[in-house]
Amino acid sequence: MPGSLRDFEAKWSRRHDPHCFSGVWRFHDLLPFAPVEQCTTVGEGQTLLLPSEGVAEYAGLRPDRLRLQYEGMNPSGSFKDNGMSAAFTHARMVGATRAACASTGNTSASLALYCSVTRLMKAVIFIGSGKISYGKLSQALDYGALTVQIDGDFDDAMARVKEVSKQLGIYLVNSVNPFRLEGQKTIMYRVLEGLGWEVPDWIVVPGGNLGNSSAFGKAFHELHELGLIDRIPRLAVINAAGANTLYQLVEKQGLRWNDGKLDAPAVGRYYDKMDAEGIRADTLASAIEINRPVNLNKCLRALQWCDGVVREVTDQQILDAKAQVGASGIGCEPASAASVAGAKLLISEGVIEPDQRVVCILTGHQLKDPTATVAYHGSDREQFDKVLGSRGVTEAPFANRAVVVANDLDEIVKVVVGK
Ligand code: F0G
Repeated sequence: MPGSLRDFEAKWSRRHDPHCFSGVWRFHDLLPFAPVEQCTTVGEGQTLLLPSEGVAEYAGLRPDRLRLQYEGMNPSGSFKDNGMSAAFTHARMVGATRAACASTGNTSASLALYCSVTRLMKAVIFIGSGKISYGKLSQALDYGALTVQIDGDFDDAMARVKEVSKQLGIYLVNSVNPFRLEGQKTIMYRVLEGLGWEVPDWIVVPGGNLGNSSAFGKAFHELHELGLIDRIPRLAVINAAGANTLYQLVEKQGLRWNDGKLDAPAVGRYYDKMDAEGIRADTLASAIEINRPVNLNKCLRALQWCDGVVREVTDQQILDAKAQVGASGIGCEPASAASVAGAKLLISEGVIEPDQRVVCILTGHQLKDPTATVAYHGSDREQFDKVLGSRGVTEAPFANRAVVVANDLDEIVKVVVGK
């Protein structure tokens, strides 16, 4: 075990070694469940912690106080590759030949990529019908995964993949799989690395199945126990208002970790109420359109360890924040922008102070979901109403509209010089 986090820097000069190059496995000492030579890598975790004055200003922070952890730079374009490299490694250790997941799109793209690059396993993915963006679906198809589209949503697909995996003995890589969370801890190690090993005040992350938030809490708790950090940052988990189970349970009903003694009846009552009232997750941020987060209990533990809070943001707030992230030159998919929208909300509430150091996690690449982006920036009102209006988005204050011009040199020149 390293004596200090700085010891990991020794790996930077050994980038020819794939396990030092990997932003997951260079921290192997902190997730040592497999011998390092058996750890699967496709070059995941080459991600950046970027400052953004524009987004800081938008959120209400001092310009130098915001960092965006850009996980869209991963090989499959989302943070999932961190966890997949670990789960895939474990799958190999136990001799799996097929691996399955239910997905809102990114887990499936990641699994499909690991299977096709390594040729070690066959990917079997379950998706809800009409619930996955084209960017993500196209990845699974291109990478050759067996793609099973279920008549239902993510939660239906999740329930089925568990049954099918059990019946057929297929290795399950959803974040119920604890090795996924081990890999996702490394996102926080890289955040610390990007900050010169200093601990920020806040980590803000979108919440869907709650794998990230659970993993982040575990990462900081362990580093603290190991004496590698002297304090733990606060955690803010941001739900979409249309998929706000965690927000409801924690902030409205006071559900807590309670030393692992989950108040299962309270959760059960909430789920029954959702079913009785026909409430189904509904948000443009399709990646986090989830009713029953599988890592609920572990997330409650993370909230306890990190003195965490949960908030919900509307699709309007998400898309406006996404446009700001895009304008800052990074770009992300809608679900990712929930972190920035959530930070803005918490700053307006006075929970986050303007001079605190805040890291928002951008979980997925801008190109994952072009439909929402084009509808937001476009001038086609019908398309706007169809894609966004149906989700309660009424305006696009940060739209950057394309200029329509005749195929005529003079007219085009006028547009370009701004007349
Ligand atoms: N952001 C993106 C881009 C995601 O794809 C997901 C989850 C989340 C946030 C939520 O993360 O589950 O750790 O709270 N996507 C899963 C999938 C559900 O199937 O790709 P979480």
